[in-house]
Amino acid sequence: MVTFENIANLRKYLYQARMEGKSIALVPTMGNLHEGHLQLVDQAQKVATLAVVSIFINPLQFGPGEDYKGYPRSFSQDQEKLRKRGCHILFSPQIENMYPETRISATVVKVPHLSHIHCGASRPGHFTGVATVVTKLFGIVQPDAAIFGLKDYQQFLVIKQATDDLCLPVKIIGSPIARTESGLAMSSRNGYLNATQKEKAAGLYRTLVKTQLAIENGNCDYDALSVKASRQLEQSGFQPDYFSICRQKDLQPATIKDRDVVILAAAYLGKARLIDNIRFTVNLTLPKYRHYDV
Ligand code: PAF
Repeated sequence: MVTFENIANLRKYLYQARMEGKSIALVPTMGNLHEGHLQLVDQAQKVATLAVVSIFINPLQFGPGEDYKGYPRSFSQDQEKLRKRGCHILFSPQIENMYPETRISATVVKVPHLSHIHCGASRPGHFTGVATVVTKLFGIVQPDAAIFGLKDYQQFLVIKQATDDLCLPVKIIGSPIARTESGLAMSSRNGYLNATQKEKAAGLYRTLVKTQLAIENGNCDYDALSVKASRQLEQSGFQPDYFSICRQKDLQPATIKDRDVVILAAAYLGKARLIDNIRFTVNLTLPKYRHYDV
């Protein structure tokens, strides 16, 4: 594996690779890598000749009071994990490489209709920070494809929309959510959880599954289901941020007519803000107005 900090050196290397007919898949990350990230690397290796992983903790996507300063940094371990997994190229720029002089970006990429809802409502500016840094990474690496974990489903849609709208020739691929045995979605922020909280944390996924089952069993009162799920989370020690049953395509509230549904949730457990989701297709053959308890 080759590691680059410098944009010009990385570009030179990738230019040569492209000249040799090699294709490139990018996995953007903020480091502190876990098995979920490594599965993205596996996927990158399947779709392209070269897997490039970027590690960059992007200040632009953190709001005031968020965990930018304390965000877990584990560069040497990450490098070793990537090397063992067969990653070809690691790009780990310094802030000065990505945001010269000002440490911020004068030009930003905004995807308004997707960015102010759900996580965007609690984290104003977050998705602009994400879309901006990902667009910059696309400009630097010029990948044929880029792989993102579907745990951050809203982020996936924001990036897909920005890529389509800006006519960027990058195929955006979503990779299934990696979970621990308990069902907890893997996340770099799970490191903030203590042992007791870790046991409780899978409750978020269980609540999503229960709600999915209720919908599949014919309960179509989505508002009541969301309220009930939030209450259940609270009772299990979470501080819910939102719990929403939405359309997969645009994250607007789902109605009884919608088939492709995503249930999105975010909740605090101690210091950790956990997010998770479940996507599924509502079966049309079920009776419409049957109600079941979640
Ligand atoms: O999902 C993440 O880790 C980050 O939001 C990303 C996509 C690497 C952009 O900084």
